Amino acid sequence: MALQIIVGAQWGDEGKGRIVDWFAAQADYVARYNGGDNAGHTVTVGGQIYKLHLIPSGIIHPETIAVLGNGMVINPKTLLGEMEMLRSVGIEISPKRLRISAFAHLITPAHRALDSAFERARGSASLGTTGRGIGPAYTDRAARRGLRLGDLLAPDFSARLERHLDEANRTLAFLGAPTLEPGAILSEYLSYAQVLKDYITDVSLELNLALQSGKSVLAEGAQGTLLDIDFGTYPYVTSSHTIAAGALTGLGLGLHAVASACTLGVVKAFQTRVGAGPFPTEIGGELAERLRGSGANPWDEYGTTTGRPRRVGWLDGVLLRYAACINGFHEIAVTKLDILTGIHPIRLCVAYEEDNRRLENLPLGPLNLERYRPIYEDLPGWDEPVSHCRRWTDLPPAARNYVERIATLCGVPVRFVSVGAEREQMVICEARE
Ligand code: GDP
Ligand code: IMO
Ligand code: MG
Repeated sequence: MALQIIVGAQWGDEGKGRIVDWFAAQADYVARYNGGDNAGHTVTVGGQIYKLHLIPSGIIHPETIAVLGNGMVINPKTLLGEMEMLRSVGIEISPKRLRISAFAHLITPAHRALDSAFERARGSASLGTTGRGIGPAYTDRAARRGLRLGDLLAPDFSARLERHLDEANRTLAFLGAPTLEPGAILSEYLSYAQVLKDYITDVSLELNLALQSGKSVLAEGAQGTLLDIDFGTYPYVTSSHTIAAGALTGLGLGLHAVASACTLGVVKAFQTRVGAGPFPTEIGGELAERLRGSGANPWDEYGTTTGRPRRVGWLDGVLLRYAACINGFHEIAVTKLDILTGIHPIRLCVAYEEDNRRLENLPLGPLNLERYRPIYEDLPGWDEPVSHCRRWTDLPPAARNYVERIATLCGVPVRFVSVGAEREQMVICEARE
């Protein structure tokens, strides 16, 4: 397959890193197309847990080339830390294996300070951002005053960084937040330029040529469809295009790539959200604690980036249908099915109700979700552990029934079911056809 795009179907943390790692075994390139270190993608191989914020999850396979696309906003400090972390566990990080788009935007300490200051200024209406400077960095991009990775190499970089810090300091002072001392930041960023210069390149050219010569490119989405800047639950979203189409603009791929593209949606078997915003199927109480976990397991529902407990609820089939449509999913991977073992019944939101009217689809997309009440279908649960299952027929009938119902609800086949965090804990579903 030439181009495969892997996209989160919900509010992020669906297990994209784990699914990307599975497919990366066959990919020549694995490329992130959006977001920055607000993302936290976890891959577990033989008990070794890799938490990746910027470098694509495919890096763990020694033959793949990892790409950071122009659609990203990159904090060089996080990036260098991640490069070192990977080296320390024996993964080769060199210009042979890692490319960074010259067009990706830089995140500076000023962006992080502004993110926190804006959140504080919003008071009770805060968005619950990750505080990583994502919104302010994309704001500078749109305002055409941003600094890009390629600018690190320009002779006037210091002057431009200084201007950026001056402007940011004026805004920080206006918001009553502490201002930043430019001196240390300037020398820090000049030292990053020295390390990163050999990795910065024209990513779009390389990927388009690779696709034309029959190589395979796996595009790794960050966040999820419902956090997309336009198509998510605005304003409770991130600041980039998380959806599949974002892979084209976020990597500079020509449209010829679309003809052979396969878009895979990653769907957690229940719903989670971290940060503020509407969540029609959210639940509380004991069952919520059960789904979230205590934090004792690495896969329990606490943010990979911020450690915040994730809000949890039942799978929302209305929003999933919407995600399938907006991304054009060809297939789905369901993750964390193992967590539902022992839960009776399993509730699945199949439609919404508004003023005694049943809605299968959303007239205005995920806008003003607060006014809807979810309509649930109760499905029988199962008690058998499923983490050892590898074939479709290994799964208990009630688990198969639940997965089948997800597929019919959104009209997309489920090809993979993840039953554990480890690389091998995957059910391949071809057998059921
Ligand atoms: P991402 O942001 O979409 O890559 O997802 P995260 O890595 O933030 O969160 C998913 C968490 O669930 C990670 O800790 C994964 O290791 C874990 N995980 C992924 N798939 C499964 C699964 O099928 N079962 C269990 N128990 N854990 C999983
Ligand atoms: P991965 O790639 C879950 C959420 C934040 C907040 C909103 C805006 O691991 O799935 P931002 O810092 O981006 O301005 O925050 O988006 N958010 C995520 N939630 N997973 C993520 O990434 C997220 N990245 C951002 O919690 O609600
Ligand atoms: Mg995550």
